[in-house]
Amino acid sequence: MGQLAKFLLVSICVAYMAVKWTAPSFDQESLRGARVLVTGASKGIGEQMAYHYGRFGAKIVITGRREKALQQVVEKCLSLGAQKALYIAADMGNESDPDKVVDFALEKLGGLDYLVLNHIGSSSFSMWDGDVEHARWLMKVNFFSYIQMAWKALPSLEQSKGSLVIVSSAAGKVPSPFVATYTSTKSALNGFFGSLYHELAMRKSNVSISICTLGLIDTESAMEKVRGLINVPAYPATEAALNIIKTGATRQQELYYPWFTYVMCVIRDWYPPLTNYIMQNSINSP
Ligand SMILES: NC(=O)c1ccc[n+]([C@@H]2O[C@H](COP(=O)([O-])OP(=O)(O)OC[C@H]3O[C@@H](n4cnc5c(N)ncnc54)[C@H](OP(=O)(O)O)[C@@H]3O)[C@@H](O)[C@H]2O)c1
Repeated sequence: MGQLAKFLLVSICVAYMAVKWTAPSFDQESLRGARVLVTGASKGIGEQMAYHYGRFGAKIVITGRREKALQQVVEKCLSLGAQKALYIAADMGNESDPDKVVDFALEKLGGLDYLVLNHIGSSSFSMWDGDVEHARWLMKVNFFSYIQMAWKALPSLEQSKGSLVIVSSAAGKVPSPFVATYTSTKSALNGFFGSLYHELAMRKSNVSISICTLGLIDTESAMEKVRGLINVPAYPATEAALNIIKTGATRQQELYYPWFTYVMCVIRDWYPPLTNYIMQNSINSP
């Protein structure tokens, strides 16, 4: 690695640590009784978020397509200390389901303090094969349902000085090979909610928006796709989930987890050849 690259890397790390040290501190008591809707919570990071919210004594509604799995997550949330835990099965590929889910949460919880948008439709880890229909469907699940739910929940979040939490990916900022459609949906989220962030701030809205940029996390579905193909460490889903919750609760604009995803994103703009090198040498063709 050249001197310039080393200098850039150290500078970014120092800047990142400075930002971390000055970040507001998290008080888990602030989540006791909080009314939370988490999407994509039947497994993976969403499931882990549901358990953390449960431990913190929140009132939660979770959603996903598989009723049986949702039921089991709800039972565990209650045993961990959730004041309330309910589920509603929904498919975010259906046009009316995003509204249906928000209506259910508003009715059962009497409003919302947190809307945590986390679900994703399935996509393969493979070379782009020209399947535009799948791309269209994925956009519906991973992007359009997010903006539909956010719009529906906004009046209640305004009333409660609430928070919108968007789970995104480093792939949405630093395009990775073999996930072209997934990457596109995450870039769309970053763009849309980045823009909405300004609009809300400019009209002095009560609602905070947090965009969470995650690197590789050890969920079953992610590991199934990339096992043996990616030479970067996978970080624990439970840790990722806790970091997302803290970011929303402290109303921070952004989360980068693990920390080096931030470095990757900055290098991508400052010195693209280095990210190109890392991308093309840390990922093998499926
Ligand atoms: N894991 C990683 O390495 C990684 C890295 C960067 C970012 N992220 C982000 O983190 C979030 C969670 O990822 P994850 O790895 O935990 O995902 P996951 O384990 O695959 O879980 C996805 C969730 O979405 C639900 N879901 C799937 N299709 C759906 C549909 N059509 N309608 C409604 N719900 C649907 C699933 O439940 P059902 O099957 O019951 O529907 C499940 O609860 C995503 O936004 C992802 O982009 C993950």
